[in-house]
Amino acid sequence: VKKQTSIPVALYGGRHAVTMLPGSGIGPELMTYVKNVFRYAGAPVDFQIVDIDPKSDDKKELEYAITSIRRNGVAIKGNIETKSESAEVRSRNVAIRNELDLFVNVLHCKSFPGVPARQKDIDIMIIRQNTEGEYAMLEHESVCGVVESMKVVTHSNSERVARWAFDYAKRMGRKKVTTIHKANIMKLSDGLFLETSRRIAKEYPDIEHNDMIIDNCCMQLVSKPHQFDVMIMTNLYGSIVSNVVCGLIGGAGLLCGKNYGDHYAIFEPGTRNTGTAIAGKNIANPVAMLNAAVAMLEHLGHTKHAKLIENAIIQTICHDNIRTQDIGGTNSSTDVVQAIIDHILQADVRPW
Ligand code: NAI
Repeated sequence: VKKQTSIPVALYGGRHAVTMLPGSGIGPELMTYVKNVFRYAGAPVDFQIVDIDPKSDDKKELEYAITSIRRNGVAIKGNIETKSESAEVRSRNVAIRNELDLFVNVLHCKSFPGVPARQKDIDIMIIRQNTEGEYAMLEHESVCGVVESMKVVTHSNSERVARWAFDYAKRMGRKKVTTIHKANIMKLSDGLFLETSRRIAKEYPDIEHNDMIIDNCCMQLVSKPHQFDVMIMTNLYGSIVSNVVCGLIGGAGLLCGKNYGDHYAIFEPGTRNTGTAIAGKNIANPVAMLNAAVAMLEHLGHTKHAKLIENAIIQTICHDNIRTQDIGGTNSSTDVVQAIIDHILQADVRPW
């Protein structure tokens, strides 16, 4: 199976330049933890930090961010809050994904042993169409009091995401892909998405394929999540289902999300929220953003550094029980980060 996104060539000394978009809310403090952990792990990455002010509608900042990601090929990102309710002001997060054609979002929902959770031993891959569907941002008031919102599903993007999902399932040794839809009501849009995935499934006879209506899927996820292996779905269902599964595993603070296109990749916390209410209090869980940083290192081929940090995270939250409040602990964000750094420093095998 071919590699799915181009990997940037390393610079002098094997180092990579990576764009860092701290975003809003807890984003900036989480990025400070990433930089600290990378320093102790000796990760060969130089960050180019691009701040985007959520209150400003300055298009230059956004253009600068996109240019930086195009140059580096890879970014790590916090969520940029969209402050305005005006339909004229578009989400910068959506704009970045669309501009770079990051057509697929991957959330690997794997339980952390020992971390309190509503369901145990979950291992689900959610693969989400990331650039169209309900996020087309095509809304208008056709006549006074009547608002129309367009959900755009295209044959080409449905095919790309389905093929990506089956290739990924094959590469990861997965057994089953489930397409999630509402084709009983949205017969044309979800119908196209479903039919396309059924057609692509025939090219992968070793992987079982089934489908499920989104409503039933939410119920099944909460009650019997172990039946799912790889799931594919359109954009909004992907956001909702990702949040449901994160909730089952332990909340917004654990999992990372990966956004891929043919040429670029962006890594971020899986639920993409800003956590504005908990910013600056030293209580945010640093793990989701650190896991995003681990996924970014793996993508760049720095597997030893990735493993070193990943092991330190698991030791800290699963074995030492050093955890923030959101996952049942009493520790601060900085306690957790310090414990992770201590594990890195104590590791028998260091990558350098
Ligand atoms: P929020 O930012 O209020 O977070 C939801 C809950 O998760 C809160 O209780 C928060 O304290 C908790 N949380 C988040 N990250 C955490 C962490 N690292 N450690 C501990 N607890 C954590 O979410 P809300 O209200 O959904 O969204 C706020 C902003 O994020 C909005 O601007 C929204 O547009 C944006 N956003 C949210 C997405 C989502 O899937 N929830 C997706 C895309 C954007």
